[in-house]
Amino acid sequence: MKILVINGPNLSRLGQREPAIYGTLTYPELTAKITEWAKDSGFDSEILQSDSETEIIQLLHRAADEKLPVIINPAAFTHYSYAIRDAAAALETPLIEVHLSNPLSREEFRHTSVISGVAKGTIAGFGADSYRLALDAMAKLVR
Ligand code: DQA
Repeated sequence: MKILVINGPNLSRLGQREPAIYGTLTYPELTAKITEWAKDSGFDSEILQSDSETEIIQLLHRAADEKLPVIINPAAFTHYSYAIRDAAAALETPLIEVHLSNPLSREEFRHTSVISGVAKGTIAGFGADSYRLALDAMAKLVR
């Protein structure tokens, strides 16, 4: 079964970006791990990163049309993009929200997620392992 893994703005900068918060794993290293973990959970993953709200919305439209389950790290869009929330709400397949860091232990503006309310669940704070846990949870949901 196919799964779409969507990563939002600035996540391509992992490894260089605020390593004290996000760790030293680079984006290509993260995608390699996700690909392997997805296989272990029985998924054929397509992993995409975009800094653009428009592109992320279009990816969610594609997921809706193709009835694909979605794991999304909306990055900063988490906290204010009603447009991404609306696109996520229209999915008939499950969507799981993930974060590398734990936004609730950080600045106050990160304490709100406009996406969580339309997600099946949220996994945050476990670094790259947040994706592994989400894939495991998704495998249980879709089987
Ligand atoms: C993040 C948390 C967000 O608050 C932040 O804007 C990000 C990354 C995370 O994975 O921890 O870009 O989604």
